[in-house]
Amino acid sequence: MGADEPVLDAPVDRFDLAARPQTAVSAGAPTPAPALILGADDDLSAHVALAESLAAAAMTLDALATAQQAFDGIELKKGARNFCFADGNPAARVLILGEAPGDEEDRQGRPFVGRSGQLLDRMFDAVGLSRRAVDAEQALYITNVLAWRPPGNRDPQPDEIAVSLPFVRRHIELAAPDLIVLMGNIACDAAIGRRGILRLRGTWVQAFGRPALPMTHPAYLLRNPPAKREAWADLLSLSARLDGAA
Ligand code: URA
Repeated sequence: MGADEPVLDAPVDRFDLAARPQTAVSAGAPTPAPALILGADDDLSAHVALAESLAAAAMTLDALATAQQAFDGIELKKGARNFCFADGNPAARVLILGEAPGDEEDRQGRPFVGRSGQLLDRMFDAVGLSRRAVDAEQALYITNVLAWRPPGNRDPQPDEIAVSLPFVRRHIELAAPDLIVLMGNIACDAAIGRRGILRLRGTWVQAFGRPALPMTHPAYLLRNPPAKREAWADLLSLSARLDGAA
């Protein structure tokens, strides 16, 4: 039926519980201990702090992958089949930052290997860039904001992005690409704190200390083929920037 994470009969917003403890407690119920009220926020900042120190301690991409995979501060890990760190050539001048693994990525443990990934490969092939290229000039390196698949392909939640960001930042620092492509809204949100990809796309920004180009996600292009025209313009802009012409 598509349900893969049974939790409770009704949804509970734990951020709201932490922010407004009095209204979350039904009349007559015993007052929860302060530690329980503060739990969600405390856990999140502790997890972010741990993620930051683990990421900072990683001196190579392999060490970072090992540290991120072992990190337990993200619930998604329990429901995912495989850890999905990166694909392509880490020496590439271009790094693509996507959103999160989908079903096929979760099966294979590699980003962008499902339908969106096949379109992504065709798009970048058209401007001479490929994840299989050995030469850094023609190569792509691909990763996602989240390394574990969200159940049912739902959008990544703010806490999941928050605990993943320290690893993403370090990932980009270690791979040291010249240019970044921010693929879709979640990547833009994580990298520059902004959504609205249809307005953002095509305009270069700074992200993680490097020039970055927001583009519409291939999943969007599969649903809206006419938008491929703008995506093509963005690919040409990327290509020109790589050639030093822009
Ligand atoms: N969509 C993404 O953003 N990343 C993937 O790896 C697959 C689909």
